Amino acid sequence: MERPSYYITTPIYYVNAAPHLGTAYCTVMADVQARFRRSAGFDVLFLTGLDEHGEKVAQAAAEHGMTPQQWCDSLVGDFTDLWKRLDITNDDFIRTTEDRQTVSVQHLWDELLANGSIYKGTYDGWYCQPEETYFTDTQVRQANEQKSTSVDVNHREIAKAAKRAPEDAPLCPDCGRPLKRVQEESWFFKLSDYQEPLLELYREHPHFVEPEIRRNEVVSFVEGGLKDLSISRTSFDWGIPLPFDEKHVTYVWFDALINYITAVGYGVETPEAKAEFARRWPAQVHIVGKDIIRFHCVIWPAMLMAAGLEVPEEVFAHGFLMVKDDGGADVKMSKSLGNAISPDTVCELLGVDGFRYYFMTDVRPGTDSSVSWGRMEQVYDADLANSWGNLCSRALNMSAKYFDGKTPELPRGWAEEANPLRAIVEGDGREGLYERYAAAMGSFAYDEAAAAVMELVHEANHYIEASEPWTLAKDPARAGELAQVIGSVLESIRVTAHLLMPFMPRTSTEVLSRLSLAEEAETTDLAAACAWGGLTGGAPVAKGAPLFPRLAQKKG
Ligand code: MSP
Repeated sequence: MERPSYYITTPIYYVNAAPHLGTAYCTVMADVQARFRRSAGFDVLFLTGLDEHGEKVAQAAAEHGMTPQQWCDSLVGDFTDLWKRLDITNDDFIRTTEDRQTVSVQHLWDELLANGSIYKGTYDGWYCQPEETYFTDTQVRQANEQKSTSVDVNHREIAKAAKRAPEDAPLCPDCGRPLKRVQEESWFFKLSDYQEPLLELYREHPHFVEPEIRRNEVVSFVEGGLKDLSISRTSFDWGIPLPFDEKHVTYVWFDALINYITAVGYGVETPEAKAEFARRWPAQVHIVGKDIIRFHCVIWPAMLMAAGLEVPEEVFAHGFLMVKDDGGADVKMSKSLGNAISPDTVCELLGVDGFRYYFMTDVRPGTDSSVSWGRMEQVYDADLANSWGNLCSRALNMSAKYFDGKTPELPRGWAEEANPLRAIVEGDGREGLYERYAAAMGSFAYDEAAAAVMELVHEANHYIEASEPWTLAKDPARAGELAQVIGSVLESIRVTAHLLMPFMPRTSTEVLSRLSLAEEAETTDLAAACAWGGLTGGAPVAKGAPLFPRLAQKKG
């Protein structure tokens, strides 16, 4: 049977600076979902990449004495190497300077020209260069009026950082930095035609924008009315030229969004490319930060509708990682504010798996969260070192001690015997652990999924205490009971390793291989792999080094 396609994307990142914790957060979130879906039998295509065009990149390149292409090429490795270090399993990596992107963008231009979705006019309005976003007079006036009555700390901080700003320029409604007035000939996309179709999309497909708070934001933005969108530039040339008007280059966001269809063969007229496109599009989910939902939930579906293409099934918007400023207020972590933490610094402390586990399970995707070293250490110690790591080390040690370095020979019918661990895995009157976990994972409630798994880990630690294997081991008449206890604990460890795999692939693979079950790590039937009773008796068990060394030891 053909496996269902699951196409998942991250935003393509600007090449203006090296990746930081915020960008890594988004990529790891997508990786966890991609890994989960692969293990649940989907045929996954996981795409990430770089957004390399636009005035900002051209300017950064000039400041460094390079051509824009040289500048982009010099930064690609910062991203691809980091993704390798963080065990990101993207299947494709797209750069908007690749030929395939030019083919696809120009194809879309031709389509939109042919069907009357675009026209030539004059753009006169405000431009936020750092955000590569255009605003109308009304949008700017409203935002600046609001801000003069309630100044947001975040905006104030950002404005402070924008030293080049002329004092009297109005501020960007999104990021608070000063805007530029621009007037130029431009091609326009008839976005104003899509107000009703978009509202209908949000009504008919309530999961198109997740979580709900973002959906409400998008709906009220669209209800406020849509203006046609300026989608080409003549004031610089670092972009994809229009096939029919070469002095114009494509507006960077119009170019960037198209990457999602380029990667699955849009614009390529071969039968193979067409088949791939039909199989992969629409994408199941675009993961984005909450700052770029207007592009993904308003402009992008309108562009697709105009081109006669389907819209993605879901856009999931995560919140921001924040840090405390000098006054103790939470501000968005960003390169331009100089408050960005490098992912490598966190990995040095927690290890790659600890990094992934902390950011994916302690922060509810969808909400903002303040990054705190104290909290990182707390979660690492409580969940990983003292619970999951401790459970593995106790159970593996006892297998070494009582069963000659093997899993116990399991008594007949052992898996049918009632015990509190089997009850958690199988549900015992409520949904089974896999079902609860899968429902949470599928809706990006990674915190809930991990909490469900941790219940099993805690219960297994209690079960060891309550059944006292060290007492059972003293009485040869109770050998069957001892095998049952250690077998059930090892079985819980096996199931836990599977369920934690998307978060901590290194540790889970290691645990399965210590149980002589390395081949299970590649499962594509997670539900079956997590069914109680999969452990085989008499298999060699390796004690190994502690999975999560104490932080104090590591730091020292
Ligand atoms: N190039 C555009 C995206 C085009 S997608 C067709 C862009 N790039 S970006 O590099 O500025 O940001 C990429 C993503 O990183 C955004 O989703 C943004 O929300 C995310 N983050 C940047 N800083 C962040 C935090 N401090 N916390 C969490 N994510 C944040 O926008």
